[in-house]
Amino acid sequence: MSTSAWERPWCASLAVGDLGRTVELVGWVRRRRDLGGLVFVDLRDRSGVVQLVFEDRMVAEGERLSAEDVLRVRGEVRRRAEGQANPDLATGEIEIRVTGLELLGEAETPPFVVEDGVNASEELRLVHRTLDLRRPEMMANLVLRHRVVATARRYFDEMGFLEVETPMLTRSTPEGARDFLVPSRVHKGSFYALPQSPQLFKQLLQVAGVGRYVQIARCFRDEDLRADRQPEFSQIDLEASFVTEEDLYTLIEGLFERIFPLVGIDCATPFPRMTYERALEGFGSDRPDTRFGLELVELAPIAEGCRFEVLERAAATGRVKGLVLPGGAGLSRKQLDALSERVRPFGAPGVLWFKRTADGVASPAKNALGEEGVRRFLDGAGAGEGDLLVALGGPAKVVFAALGALRLELAAERGLIPPGRHDFLWVTDFPLLEWDETAGRFFAMHHPFTSPRPEDLERLASDPGAVRARAYDVVMDGVELGGGSIRISDPAVQRRMFAALGIGEDEARERFGFLLEAFRYGVPPHGGIALGLDRMVMLMAGRDSIRDVIAFPKTTSASCLMTGAPSSVDPAQLVELGLKIQ
Ligand code: AMO
Repeated sequence: MSTSAWERPWCASLAVGDLGRTVELVGWVRRRRDLGGLVFVDLRDRSGVVQLVFEDRMVAEGERLSAEDVLRVRGEVRRRAEGQANPDLATGEIEIRVTGLELLGEAETPPFVVEDGVNASEELRLVHRTLDLRRPEMMANLVLRHRVVATARRYFDEMGFLEVETPMLTRSTPEGARDFLVPSRVHKGSFYALPQSPQLFKQLLQVAGVGRYVQIARCFRDEDLRADRQPEFSQIDLEASFVTEEDLYTLIEGLFERIFPLVGIDCATPFPRMTYERALEGFGSDRPDTRFGLELVELAPIAEGCRFEVLERAAATGRVKGLVLPGGAGLSRKQLDALSERVRPFGAPGVLWFKRTADGVASPAKNALGEEGVRRFLDGAGAGEGDLLVALGGPAKVVFAALGALRLELAAERGLIPPGRHDFLWVTDFPLLEWDETAGRFFAMHHPFTSPRPEDLERLASDPGAVRARAYDVVMDGVELGGGSIRISDPAVQRRMFAALGIGEDEARERFGFLLEAFRYGVPPHGGIALGLDRMVMLMAGRDSIRDVIAFPKTTSASCLMTGAPSSVDPAQLVELGLKIQ
């Protein structure tokens, strides 16, 4: 048996067109069925499965095989017996009558059955990641990820982009998360930082004249993890010179028009655009899920002087917003109480509800507001008979976060998201700066190299919070897929930006001196964007966790269950690095 590896067919590539052919196949035993004098084995490789039949003198050899054994077989492709075809399988009409078998690797009983929809904990799957990846649904995710990257590379090549690698061992970058540090052996007491993104390098490449840069870039951020966040993740990262926001929008829309059809999602371009302000007001989020209604409504004018103290006070000092749940008047008392429980994690004491039924209106605030007062809220919110109005007053941040999250939960629970629908949009006009209450200063909402809108520049000193940025995010189904901006290319504007951030000349030189130095010798106007590759593939694959589309991911506590990283190190290594563990 010795077909060239490159000519050998994949298991699932065989079909009726191959009837009569003698083929060599390799793969893993998915399962074995003994029928007495006849043994069936499903052979699996990356492409799928094909049925092997062991009969006559081959029966004994077939009988000693067990799940996950690695085989090389030779046999003849033949049609399955009458009534035995499996229409669910690509190779369902054929089978291989085995004439030769070589057991290349014997498998012990695996800790879980290597099948789709397996009933094993994620922990067990992560410990035995090789078995997990062997499952068809996981393998399909790896294949999809490859297709996305290959398509993107081809597209950017056609668009004149150069793929350039940037360093992993570098200085702290300005993305604002915590850095992963790498101690230097040569320079004891000094550290490299792993890049949170190639941000500064891609800008420097523009100063160098690369003009159009792209990279599938690994990024490292030591932040709290969630289902769509990993400490180590990949971006499709790009930057271009002499471009405007519009150029970048069409570039990314063109990319998505190539990538999303890989999974049958067609994205109508151009994508709708929504300002940050509108996103927050209507959806309580800067990554609005627009696939369903339940938009937030303004209640402040009704709350003013409404004689219900909590709302009156919120209207005067913060915000009062609500959302109308169609048909929500039918919620039980227990379900209504649970609404309040759900907003507490966001720092809200609870929500106030109002409902309108055939019997009239109801609300826990009816005593204080009076029947007329309750009606005014329901009318103002546009709540009809059978509807429920959920209202919340308080600081803007709390109100938006709590109602935004409640909106998503209610939509999911009540099945309001149309199946198969996908919404893409650009969120624009982000504020340049964000006030941090605890630090008592402004931070860059994107990063300190994001350009302010020229017409807002004058307000940078007088009213920094009101300055809008030339920044944009691309959002799909309520998930931020990517973000970017047109950068500051004028050193004078950069100085004003640093001043607004409270970054003095010395600190700027210390942290970003190399960039500022390069900027002295001719900077082209430039801008870019980075797309979260893992998130994109996650959505395309219809998964809820980016761990499912990363071959070897970390858990939410940032450890790798397979390798045991992070781990302690040999004391001698610490000595060499000049480090002492406290
Ligand atoms: P930003 O920080 O918005 O921008 O990141 C861009 C995109 O990367 C993805 N992403 C992540 N994915 C998985 N795990 C994480 N921990 C994680 N953090 C971010 C998101 C996000 O939209 N240098 C700028 C881009 C630019 O300005 O060009 C940057 O990194 O999908």
